[in-house]
Amino acid sequence: MRLLIITALLLATAVVVPAVRSFSEESEPLEREMQRKLEYSKQILDGLVTEDFEKIRQGARSLNEFGKRKWIENESAAYRTQNQVFWFTTGTLLMAADNKNIDGATLSYTQMTHSCVNCHKLLRRQ
Ligand code: HEC
Repeated sequence: MRLLIITALLLATAVVVPAVRSFSEESEPLEREMQRKLEYSKQILDGLVTEDFEKIRQGARSLNEFGKRKWIENESAAYRTQNQVFWFTTGTLLMAADNKNIDGATLSYTQMTHSCVNCHKLLRRQ
């Protein structure tokens, strides 16, 4: 009987382990993609403090492209609102950088950062 249980447990692990591994391999691209949002926002901050408008533009454009895409299946109104705020403020950030308006860019960056924090906050609470 004990041998039967041990065999069953071993079989169960053999089935579960590859399943877990393939799941993390599948979710890796999303994780890496999400990590890039952080890199772009650091690049924007770098551009803001050095008044390098090209750096700001590049980061804002990349984030704006991100905002057009659907990252996960989440149809809640709160999520969609944060996604829209994110997309909108990356757009105003891009415009401010085009106009070499450092104060406008700083304001948009701050507004965008609110959407980063708020979206993550609501995902954790859902
Ligand atoms: C509209 C919602 C939304 C906005 C806005 C948003 N994120 Fe995310 N973020 C997600 C989702 C969804 C994931 C992946 C799933 C998860 O981790 O729950 C994620 C994951 C991440 C990760 C991976 C680590 C982690 O916590 O899982 C980082 C880093 C990240 N986001 C940074 C940012 C930054 C920086 C911004 C703003 C420039 C931002 N995000 C804006 C929804 C958002």
